Amino acid sequence: MMRTILSLALCVIFLLLCAPAAVGEDLPSLKDIYAGSFDVGVALPRGAFSDKAKMDLVRQQFNIITPENEMKPDSVLDVGTSRALSRTDETAAAVRFDAAKPLLDFAKANGIKVHGHTLVWHSQTPEEFFHEGYDKSRPFVTREVMLGRLENYIKGVMGYLDREYPGVVVSWDVVNEAVDDGGLLLRISNWTKVVGDDFVHRAFELARKYAPEGTLLYYNDYLPSTSKLERACTLVESLKEEGCIDGFGNQMHESVTGKSTWSLTAELNRIANLGLKIRISELDIGMKTPTEENLKKQAVLYAHVMQQALRHADQMEAVQVWGLTDSMTWRTGESPLLFDGKLQPKPAFFAAADPESVQ
Ligand code: XIL
Repeated sequence: MMRTILSLALCVIFLLLCAPAAVGEDLPSLKDIYAGSFDVGVALPRGAFSDKAKMDLVRQQFNIITPENEMKPDSVLDVGTSRALSRTDETAAAVRFDAAKPLLDFAKANGIKVHGHTLVWHSQTPEEFFHEGYDKSRPFVTREVMLGRLENYIKGVMGYLDREYPGVVVSWDVVNEAVDDGGLLLRISNWTKVVGDDFVHRAFELARKYAPEGTLLYYNDYLPSTSKLERACTLVESLKEEGCIDGFGNQMHESVTGKSTWSLTAELNRIANLGLKIRISELDIGMKTPTEENLKKQAVLYAHVMQQALRHADQMEAVQVWGLTDSMTWRTGESPLLFDGKLQPKPAFFAAADPESVQ
């Protein structure tokens, strides 16, 4: 009997010793390295949450996550229910969170924060939202009705999250990509057509009204040119005057052949001058082919971004990458992230973990 117990115990010890280490267990942890300076985050799609290896890596490396698509209006606005409700109240806006549930449950269970993305956007927003009776064959609603729908939408989102996931969603991209890529201040969209140019200001006002106290409210955009950067800063200055904005999210979808380290530095300096909080909200750095040279260039750029984030640590809230691995990215074939498709760290990961080591 004793002998059987002993050999069973030896077997268990042997199996434990031989068990493969969890993915990434031996790696430095980005969230720990930058703790005290800023959060390190990752955007994740719904499908990732059933993959244990990926979730182990997420828990190890990141302390904030953001839904890649699942909290955008085309996931959250319940068009069918809103249409039914609109028969008695045109301003009704029903919400649902079934797509975001895996992310919210994971965050709540693991004590990981969530950055909400995004309340108001010209893209990934049902056309029906803007039309009478939630019927896109009918005319646009009036400005007043649209502001009523926006209010009910934001109230519904904030109310649901505060009830079901109190304290989990700590910040929001309130308005995404409102600034025009050409010469206009605002891009023309259903929002400018139905509400008018103050839709950005009204959205921030409503987000402030309904967000739990302490929630950080961001304007979020990509900045392909210095002229767009200037226009975005003009918009954010005017939001700052109204007092409802906390920060500027710089998406930073970059590439190894794009901006120089010098212009990335200048861009962040300009944003920091606004005197608000900053987040690098959607960082990825693409390349045409993953040659050794390109992977090195990518590593240098990641290191530079982390160094600049540290330089602005007093304002920097978070650096978030837009995806976990090169096979879970919207930039298919551009190898833009820190881990490859096999969850292995790339030179960019080690550069982000230890920027000083990169020349
Ligand atoms: C992208 C997602 O990654 C894709 O899966 C989706 O098909 C389109 O949107 N700027 C943003 C993000 O603010 O919401 C976008 O995400 C990438 C660009």
